[in-house]
Amino acid sequence: MAVQPTEKPFYETHVFCCVNQRPPGHPRSCCADRGSKDLHGYMKARAKELGIKNIRVNQSGCLERCELGPSMVIYPEGVWYTYDSHEDVDEILTKHIINGDVGSMEITFAHSDGGTLDTAELNTGFWDGATVQMYLVDRLTLPALGDPIFTGLIDTVSINPIGSSGSFDIRGISVQAEAFIQTYQPMCRTDLFSPLCQLVATDWDHAGTVDTIIYRFNFTVSGLGAPPADGWFNQGTFQTASGFKGTIANWVLSSLKITTYQPNCFSRLTAGEGITLYPGCDKTAATCRTKFNNRINHQAEAHFLGINSIVGV
Ligand code: FES
Repeated sequence: MAVQPTEKPFYETHVFCCVNQRPPGHPRSCCADRGSKDLHGYMKARAKELGIKNIRVNQSGCLERCELGPSMVIYPEGVWYTYDSHEDVDEILTKHIINGDVGSMEITFAHSDGGTLDTAELNTGFWDGATVQMYLVDRLTLPALGDPIFTGLIDTVSINPIGSSGSFDIRGISVQAEAFIQTYQPMCRTDLFSPLCQLVATDWDHAGTVDTIIYRFNFTVSGLGAPPADGWFNQGTFQTASGFKGTIANWVLSSLKITTYQPNCFSRLTAGEGITLYPGCDKTAATCRTKFNNRINHQAEAHFLGINSIVGV
């Protein structure tokens, strides 16, 4: 029978735990008498629990390190351990398998107050050493699809000087075995009505009159003719007849109410003066296509994750 050598190890990590049992009173004793069968079972279960992939935790016969037992060796590194508790097993799995110098993944994040990854918490070390598991997800509904594809530990966190974003390093062995394909949803760098956008502002404006100045951020408009749907002006802009320019946070059709980002707008507006409103763009491809029919001029960025953003192979 022909024997075909394999090009690479079948398992990324292959652990051998000696469970050799010798007769009572044997001068060299044995690993089994020091609890290695229980420790082997615990390690196997714990590796699975931690989501470590492509690992095999085997029982073995005598490894000829009886006096140092319970003995364990991990390949391909060929590193030997003496261990005698569940805590030792946890430490080996964490330090050698998960957090070993065998691969890393950098995750970048935007500034966030509160929420799951609060920037201040990251910056003060609250998450240092935390276990991270990554799953395939559908960005629309965000269910986890199957088992984790990567498990690692947060290693180094860095926040940029102005605190608007940061990154952390995840170290874990699975990254060596996994390849990732990412699909991207284009996202625009271009402001609406900039020359690159090639939309003509006057084709999209709505002329009206400042009606009631409600309080600080809010006012209503009248005389729009055919007021557009809720949200049409969100992220848009306005300019009054006196030259005051502002940006629009929210537009509500039923009340004809504009909410701006300018807290002092009430002091810059005059009821009855003319105002021109321009629609907003959230710079996504979908909005560019469906709202402005301008997809051909969309200035895409190649690094914005798309709807089906991560696929492991
Ligand atoms: S009995 Fe375990 S190494 Fe010999």
